[in-house]
Order: sequence, then C-alpha cells, then structure tokens
Amino acid sequence: MSKPKTIRIFDTTLRDGEQSPGASMNIEEKVRIAHQLEKLNVDVIEAGFPIASDGDFEAVKKVAQTIRGAQIAGLCRANDKDIDRAWEALQFAGERGRIHTFIATSDIHMKYKLKMSEEQVVEQAVKAVQRAARYTPNVEFSAEDAVRTRLPFLARVVEAVIAAGATTVNIPDTVGYALPWEFAEIIRYLKQNVPNIEQATISVHCHNDLGLAVANSLAAVQAGAQQVECTINGIGERAGNCSLEEVVMALRTRHDILPFTTGVVTEHIYAASKLLSTITGIVVQPNKAIVGANAFAHEAGIHQHGVLMEKSTYEIMTPESIGLTQNKLVLGKHSGRHAFIDRLQELGYDLVKEDIEKAFVRFKSLADQKKEIFDEDLDAIVADEIIRVPERYKLRQMSVSSGSFAAPSATVEMDVDGKVKKTATIGDGPVDATFKAIKKMTKSQARLLQFSVGAITGGTDAQGECTVRLEENGREVLGQGAHPDIIVASAKAYINALNKMASVVQRTNVNL
Ligand code: KIV
Ligand code: ZN
Repeated sequence: MSKPKTIRIFDTTLRDGEQSPGASMNIEEKVRIAHQLEKLNVDVIEAGFPIASDGDFEAVKKVAQTIRGAQIAGLCRANDKDIDRAWEALQFAGERGRIHTFIATSDIHMKYKLKMSEEQVVEQAVKAVQRAARYTPNVEFSAEDAVRTRLPFLARVVEAVIAAGATTVNIPDTVGYALPWEFAEIIRYLKQNVPNIEQATISVHCHNDLGLAVANSLAAVQAGAQQVECTINGIGERAGNCSLEEVVMALRTRHDILPFTTGVVTEHIYAASKLLSTITGIVVQPNKAIVGANAFAHEAGIHQHGVLMEKSTYEIMTPESIGLTQNKLVLGKHSGRHAFIDRLQELGYDLVKEDIEKAFVRFKSLADQKKEIFDEDLDAIVADEIIRVPERYKLRQMSVSSGSFAAPSATVEMDVDGKVKKTATIGDGPVDATFKAIKKMTKSQARLLQFSVGAITGGTDAQGECTVRLEENGREVLGQGAHPDIIVASAKAYINALNKMASVVQRTNVNL
C-alpha cells in the first residue's frame, strides 16, 4: 500500500478571515489566535496584509516574532512597495517567513480591475516573484480568480512564476464559483500542462459562495493539490472560506477513500473555534458541521437510543476527536483556584498570571450569584474580562428603572478618555435609555445595526450575553458583554463595540 500523502494546512483566519464583516481583530487578539493555531499545528499561518495598514503590519510582525511552530505568511500585491513592506514584517520569522504575492489572471479582472494585458500580467507576476525571492526562497504566488481564468493562460502564468522562483502556487476560487469536478479538472490540467509543476507545491484557496468551498478543496486534493488554504469556522469575505475543521475532519474521517493526512492536532479544534467566536463575536450557527452546538447532540429519541447502544450507529467521529469533552458542568462556589485554572486550560485558554487573577475574581463573584458554573460561563468571563480591546470607554456603574408605571430611564456613569462622566436619560425601554446615555457621553456617530440578547446557560440565574453590531463610515464591529443583569450586559456590549470601533479607526489608517 502506498504511504498517505501529507496535505499542508495554510490557515488564513487572520488575513482572509479578518475580511469578514465585523471580524477585525487587534494585535493582541491576533497573537492569541496565532498561539491557538500553533497548538493546532497548522503548517502556515497567514498573519495579515502588511501594507494594508500600520495595524496589520504590526500584527504580522508580532506574530512573526512570537510564533515558532509554523511558517508565517504575509500577503502582498505584485508590486515592489507591497513586497518590501511584507518582508519588513516577516523577516522576524527568518526562514519560516513566507511572502505571498498575488495578481489577478482572469479576463474579467484583467480588463476591468487591472486594465492590463496578458503580457503585462505575466511580466508583473514574474517580477514580483523575483523580487520576493531575493528576500526568501519561501515564495507563494496566487493567481487571483484562477477559476475564471482561461486554462492555457493560467498554465502559462504558473509555469512562469515557478521558473521565477515561486515554491508554492496557489489556485484560488476567489468568487466561490467552481463545482468540485470542474475544480479538480483545473488541478489535473495544470499538472499535465505545466512542465515545471513538480518544482512547486500546488495550493488551493476556495471561497464558499455556493457552499462548496470544502467540497472543492477535497476534490482538488484528490486531483493532486498538496496545500489547502482555510479558516477557523470558515470565516472570510462574503460567504467565507473553506473551513479548516471541516476539511481536516473530512480527511481524517474518510481516510478510507482519501489517503491523505494533515499534521493538525484535531483535539484543539473546538478550543480554536470557541476562541475565534469569543474574540470576533461571530457566533457559530448551531447546525454548523464539526463545531456547531448541535454537531454532536443526538436529540431525537431514536438516535439517542442508537448512540447509547453503540456509538457508531449515528456518530461518524467522536466529540473527543475535536476536543469536545462531555463534562459540561464544571465549577461551583467552593471550587478552588486549581480547578478553575485546570478547566480554563482544558478549554484552551493559556492565560498569564495577572489575567487568571482577574478571571478568578470574576468567577467567584459569579459563583455567588449562580449555583453552577458551566464551560460557557467561563468562555463569557474570559471574553468579557480578558479579551478586550484598549478601553477608551469603560462602564463604572449604572442603574435603570423600568416597568409599566413610568417612562424607562437609565443613569450611567463611565470613563470617557480617562474622565468620569455621568448622565441620565429616558428611552423607549431600559436598553434604549442606557444606549442613549452612553451615546450622549461618547458622542458616537456609529449606527446600531443589530442588538441581540441570549442566556449563556439555562435557568433564571443564567448570565445574559448581549451582542451589538455597529457601523460607522463603512466599518462594522461586533461588541459583546456578559453579566447576570441583562441591561448591564447590554451596556457592556455597546461599550465594547464602541471601543472596538475606536481601535479599528485607529488601525485602518491606510486605504488600499
Ligand atoms: O480569494 C483570493 O483570491 C485571495 C487571494 C489573495 C489568495 O484571497
Ligand atoms: Zn480569498
């Protein structure tokens, strides 16, 4: 029997994933995710697009300086300025730094976006790869919109960039247009028509506009692709990217007909998914494959019966294989620091001493109000207490009055740029009054797009969890807040979103 081939996993959560509306992350958050990706043992972490903004540059640099267990890629267009800037950030990863340069190759992109001829595109692609190769041999070239590119031209570009020094060639389905058999055919065509193809790793990068990103990636692997580009929870522009957990678990579960392996330590998948949704506020739909809340829940009686008799009746993979332990009830009022720290670690949080202290104080105060603390409560504590953007605005205290006798009102005291402010307002309801008070003190112009409330666990003593989505000048952010009092949770979520907006505005100072 032939040896299974290893497929490289190139994670782009921090670059393409961050292009999801509302998913922007600050440097500290990106480094946290990068550490989790390192634990997952992905082969490459694409940390950002260094020329896009000073914030992106700093994030790529920091990830390159910090992470040791993966290659670090930075994206750049095919021009000198972008490439030089990318290497300025990536050099700190040394040999593990990868310059990822791209240019579009489809007729539609060349005509309307680039306004360039085929000759010019080939020339620019080759020049870019040659420049990148002066910095490092680890050069990836992407033919943007490859799927809608005429195949002979795609083959010509791929051959030229490999000759120029590209060691990985990426074939993106930029607009998520391909069908699996069609995409596999493109990979086969390149293998047959590019004479030097064996000198480079063939990579694929699929978007999910038709819900086919994972299927297309698997079809490409079967046709000979050796690297898959993907994101945690499948986040990414529009309908997202190929989901890391789905493609990796498909390769693991269907090893019988897909004789490929990855280096991913799948037991860290669930923690990675949780961490990302905690940081971005983008919740995973309950029926999402692999990491959705219902993915391993066997509700229907007949299924439950089957699973109890013999797990494999309805379970094609175990929850443990993605790091999902059945022990959901965790701690209570009398639980000590050790149990608390152990559980946080099991959930994938490696916190520094100071953060553990903050979280522990918060846990004790919650345990006074709530009999049983579940994993979800701990996630909320970490999200609310530790994973925070720099805080221009901070809630000090508040009180509300509401009911059917008088107009709902709120009195809110908060720090605004280091100064204590207090105001009282009335509104259509207690949340409306609270938001009006906060808006007045922060003078925010951001538009409220979405407000949602949920209970983290069951029971009337459950913590309330609120999500607020704001928009200002085309930028969207999501804020989250958790507290046993739902109105306080709402205020925290709104303030968290305002802080994120302030940090995004500061970071995105260069427009592409
Ligand atoms: O979707 C795409 O084409 C990309 C490239 C820049 C790789 O993200
Ligand atoms: Zn993409």
